[in-house]
Amino acid sequence: MPALDEILVEELQDLLHAENQLVKALPKMAKAARDPKLREAFQTHLEETKGHVERLKQAFELLGAKAKAKPCKGMQGLVEEGQEIIAEGKEKEEAVADLALAGAAQKVEHYEISGYGTLRTVAERAGHTKVAKLLAQTLAEEEKTDKLLTELSAPLLEQASQGEEEEPEEEDEQQASKSRRSSRSGR
Ligand SMILES: [Fe+2]
Ligand SMILES: [Fe+2]
Repeated sequence: MPALDEILVEELQDLLHAENQLVKALPKMAKAARDPKLREAFQTHLEETKGHVERLKQAFELLGAKAKAKPCKGMQGLVEEGQEIIAEGKEKEEAVADLALAGAAQKVEHYEISGYGTLRTVAERAGHTKVAKLLAQTLAEEEKTDKLLTELSAPLLEQASQGEEEEPEEEDEQQASKSRRSSRSGR
């Protein structure tokens, strides 16, 4: 197998594992989202993500390789972070929790965009036009989702910053008393 094809197959295995993880993670993110538009965005992207898995399988077929997943540690880390954010969000205000969730989702999209972008270029260079086309289709959906998340975050950011102005700055007060204590003990 030519060197570029080898890279292509290895990276496809990585992406397959990443997308499989997202098929499991996105329903949890949709469930955690409290803003109906954000929830809908996750649900829509779940359906698209199932399509991404299908396109990857088609790409393997075109390359005459077996559709095998290879553990993608990068995505594992991002999904774990997402789970932490979901757990922490339960204690937070709606807009703040949703904002953090949208942020976690955008990290995932950026990771995918970088993966698909590179791989599409490799596929083009290796002369696998059909594979490159499949990867470009998925790339476009990841980019669209990334943009949508930015749009949905804007009003959430607005709401979250309003909450901020009303709240007393407890942390600063704690910090101040701590430094008062340490300056006393320093004498
Ligand atoms: Fe995807
Ligand atoms: Fe995605």
